[in-house]
Amino acid sequence: MKHLIKIGLIFLTGIFFTSATLSSEKETPSPTDLKSIMQGMLSDTKDITEGIFIDNFEMIEKAANNIAMHPEIPPVAKLKLIKAFGPKMQEFKANDMKVHQAAVEIGKAAQLKDMDVIITQFHVLIDGCGSCHGKFKKTVQEILK
Ligand code: HEC
Repeated sequence: MKHLIKIGLIFLTGIFFTSATLSSEKETPSPTDLKSIMQGMLSDTKDITEGIFIDNFEMIEKAANNIAMHPEIPPVAKLKLIKAFGPKMQEFKANDMKVHQAAVEIGKAAQLKDMDVIITQFHVLIDGCGSCHGKFKKTVQEILK
């Protein structure tokens, strides 16, 4: 009997901790997460720019890889976006993919020390940042608020 009570207690504690974690996740403001991802992308974009001007291909490659593998927003925030955007989510994703692809190309070109390709793809990258901001920044801020 004592044994059962012990198991019961462990079980209840488990539920308590799980629900505490879940509810605190809900209350964490998601914009902060997206913002910090974006701040990281800004810092990496600056590094790519610097790398281009001082011919530092290692710096370019590292920063481009960071952008290509940027962290995902938390699942709760993602669900909010999917719900609010509906089919438009595809367009938002496409913008992210454009930046991702450009970053991958920059990383590959940096390995080959091919500055022409790096610069061409850098334009594509910046265009991708700006185009998503123009189309989605305000809306996303509203949704995640
Ligand atoms: C798929 C859409 C999308 C792409 C692509 C994108 N961003 Fe953003 N970005 C956003 C959204 C949405 C916000 C607003 C986030 C917020 O305020 O919560 C934002 C905000 C920012 C901010 C402001 C963060 C702050 O502290 O307020 C910076 C800086 C930024 N992005 C940099 C970049 C850079 C650099 C790139 C390209 C390498 C990029 N972004 C690509 C959607 C995008």
